[in-house]
Amino acid sequence: MELNRSKEWLALEEHFSKLKDVHLKNLFENTPDRVKNFIFEIPGMYVDISKNRITEETIQLLLNLARFAGLEKAIDDMFTGQKINETEDRPVLHIALRNRSNKPIYVAGRDIMPDINAVLSKMADFSEKVGSGEWKGFSGKPIKNIINIGIGGSDLGPSFACEALKYYSNRNLKMSFVSNIDPTHIVETLIDKSAEETLFIIASKTFTTQETMTNAMTARKWLIKKMKDDKAIASHFVAVSTNKKEVVKFGIDPANMFGFWDWVGGRYSLTSAIGLPLMISIGSRNFFDLLEGYHAMDCHFRKTPLEKNIPVLLGMIGIWYNNFFKAESHVILPYDQYLHRFPAYLQQADMESNGKSVAKNGKKTNYQTGPIIWGEPGTNGQHAFYQLIHQGTRLIPADFIGFVRSLNPQGDHHLKLIANLFAQTRALAFGKNEKAVRAEGIQDWLVPFMCFEGNRPTTTIMLDKLTPANLGKLVALYEHKIFTQGIIWNIFSFDQWGVQLGKAMANNILPELSSNSNNLEHDSSTNNLIEYFKKMQEQQ
Ligand code: F6P
Repeated sequence: MELNRSKEWLALEEHFSKLKDVHLKNLFENTPDRVKNFIFEIPGMYVDISKNRITEETIQLLLNLARFAGLEKAIDDMFTGQKINETEDRPVLHIALRNRSNKPIYVAGRDIMPDINAVLSKMADFSEKVGSGEWKGFSGKPIKNIINIGIGGSDLGPSFACEALKYYSNRNLKMSFVSNIDPTHIVETLIDKSAEETLFIIASKTFTTQETMTNAMTARKWLIKKMKDDKAIASHFVAVSTNKKEVVKFGIDPANMFGFWDWVGGRYSLTSAIGLPLMISIGSRNFFDLLEGYHAMDCHFRKTPLEKNIPVLLGMIGIWYNNFFKAESHVILPYDQYLHRFPAYLQQADMESNGKSVAKNGKKTNYQTGPIIWGEPGTNGQHAFYQLIHQGTRLIPADFIGFVRSLNPQGDHHLKLIANLFAQTRALAFGKNEKAVRAEGIQDWLVPFMCFEGNRPTTTIMLDKLTPANLGKLVALYEHKIFTQGIIWNIFSFDQWGVQLGKAMANNILPELSSNSNNLEHDSSTNNLIEYFKKMQEQQ
């Protein structure tokens, strides 16, 4: 039965027709203690969904849909290592990477926990050596600069998390991340680095990604030129990959390779060896705390009934806006400067997972799937794009993320920050009507511009402090929210075929940019662009 013909979906449509014009103001007025029914907690995290355009009935109906879609079984299938990534014929087991219970998890009849633990120990050992200065560069100097070369999941996870947990970092080490194939990225990164004190981590699941391998080759050349000896590679390059053959071909000693497995998706790989730069930066103890946090959320997701299951509830509320209110985007607003890369990280996690338009049966979906994810930290966003969220024509559900305690207390900064967070969710929900505007003595003609309709939905996620464990809970919350939505939309969330076509075309165009032949067989626009580029290059 098609999703949007199911009785559960139709019941939601009917419910939507009744609720779509109901204002949050009325929902709060009718049930003054409404918040009580809409707060969910796990240790360290408090989630308030009351400022969403929902009633208890909405939740019940959404959970009926979740049951219709087989969410409970799907969760079980993921945690027990079933091959749920069917188009790539693999299980999806990022949850095993942080399985701190250490209970066996089997892939093809083999417990994978010993392999995971072995890599974690190897990472911890290496991180300790680099952090303490025991690991020396080729000329005998300790390492001061770590440069991670990777892209997508092999960049966004560790780069976001190194920023997020900078407070816990070893300040003697400078962390840099090179991802873009634009030479500017690597050139600018290398400009102030001394080769003797620089360690490169080449991070690529496949070890064939064009951007990463190009940057890695440039880094290799730079190092050999500076050190005047290619034996220096062994002390300055390590690899994180699933592809030993390519790592060896590149010239990295397999002893300096940190492995992971094909059942770890790139965008879910932060807790695999891809997290090596993070572990080096914050130390293994903090990294293990991060894993504990992930694991706590994994256990919550696996064991909590749907009615109280935070990732499920957030996922289903997302479905409510996406498929019934027809919201097109979802904004992530962390009120913490350390989380400034979190929206970018979630863009890949969510949009590469659920940006699909073919259902599992191979047919096109006749409903919307993944939303556009965007955002910036508060309060910066308030002075930039919040205008559109408050008074624009689109409905943009928002997640506000805040911490009770600042890691860097400074006068009343934190109180002001949090006052802004709370005020925004209140202003978005309740707005300001004409009467209130007029009461301020505003001139008649200005009144319409000063009114705020309100009824803009928000979810508030508060954590006690930005600790490694709390970060783990937060990231896992979003991972499982994304999983939940993929199950409802009946799409394969763990492949990413949509990135292939552009890659293949770039490989076709690349030789044409430096060829003398003008025998181009693309469309006229692309042919002209290539010709224009070549002509202008010749003129220089
Ligand atoms: O092109 C998309 C993608 O495959 C992502 O899914 C992945 O995170 C990224 O490229 C990098 O891939 P790799 O780690 O194999 O270099």
